[in-house]
Amino acid sequence: MTTAAKKTAAKTTAAKKAPPKFKDAIAMLRADHAKVSGLFAEFEKARSSSKKMALVSTICTELSVHAQVEEEVFYPAVKAALKDKSLIPEAVVEQATMKALISQIEGVAPDGEMYDARVKVLAEYVKHHVKEEHTEMFPRAKATRLDMAALGAQMAQRKAELMA
Ligand SMILES: [Fe+2]
Ligand SMILES: [Fe+2]
Repeated sequence: MTTAAKKTAAKTTAAKKAPPKFKDAIAMLRADHAKVSGLFAEFEKARSSSKKMALVSTICTELSVHAQVEEEVFYPAVKAALKDKSLIPEAVVEQATMKALISQIEGVAPDGEMYDARVKVLAEYVKHHVKEEHTEMFPRAKATRLDMAALGAQMAQRKAELMA
């Protein structure tokens, strides 16, 4: 095979294997949820303060960015598409409580049972919030004419900006 042919072959393989550039909006949010859930599970097993603090730092960043992307992009689009007056406002109120819990542990050194309790309550709270998104919000959002691929692209862009 010539070098050029090899290059073409490599390109074709890469093109076949390459994942779509953006996940659709709901797939992206679900992936965030799964990531955070895994981090909370890791926290449960963590014993050292440094490990706990590092995990909490990642959890807080992930949750804050996720909530902001939802509130700036996903929630308004779904609210408008559904002409919703309760589902999204309730989710926003829940996220405000979530942020209050985050502010109590973000950057705080683990100092015993109260710290662990705050992380545990945050984990349970997030689990409840995520369950509502999965069982109520996402199915209703999917049933609308919203372009989830375009919304996902917009969200991925905003997430990248916030993570930078
Ligand atoms: Fe949310
Ligand atoms: Fe979410």
